[in-house]
Amino acid sequence: MNTIALILRPLLVVVFLIVAGAGDEKTCPGSPSMTVESACRKVSGTQAMYDLCKDALAGVPNPMSDHDATVYALAAANGAMASADATVVAANEQITYNRSLSGEEKEAYKGCVEAYATVEHAMGSVLNKLGACSFGGLADDYMNGLLAVESCRDRVIKLPASPFYAMVLVDRNKVGLALFVGKLLAI
Ligand SMILES: *[C@@H]1O[C@H](CO)[C@@H](O)[C@H](O)[C@H]1NC(C)=O
Repeated sequence: MNTIALILRPLLVVVFLIVAGAGDEKTCPGSPSMTVESACRKVSGTQAMYDLCKDALAGVPNPMSDHDATVYALAAANGAMASADATVVAANEQITYNRSLSGEEKEAYKGCVEAYATVEHAMGSVLNKLGACSFGGLADDYMNGLLAVESCRDRVIKLPASPFYAMVLVDRNKVGLALFVGKLLAI
């Protein structure tokens, strides 16, 4: 084989995988299928939750057609995870660089970093189980994530209002939404 072929072959394999992957979205046996609109109507008791849901599922292609609810659960869990990741980065930045932080704030932020290790572990487990269509213990994983975010919220709620507190509230809503969307899978 000449050099060009050696270079092109792996490239062709990559292109093939991308093309093959495009139409091939997640489905799990027995999981319901619906549009984004109907998923968000089902999981949201309030307008705020509905808006959050539409936002969380905005990246799902062809929202008007039916998708396996696992697709929605994955999108919501990924969104919650990304949000939590950003909050941990922010907490560590505050702890490391913000000289105006009071001792109380520093303690609270450190407690949050610890709590968020649990959040990330729980949501990581959710993502793995969704990916494997293995839903056993899924409800507990969501709840562990939610309770850990709330334990951080309860630390910062006592402090003066801060942008960090706002981030934690957003995480709380996103993990809560992920749980509600997960419930479409009858977990
Ligand atoms: C640093 O901490 C103080 C006290 O909580 C807060 O008001 C301020 O916004 C923080 N500064 C930055 C750059 O985040």
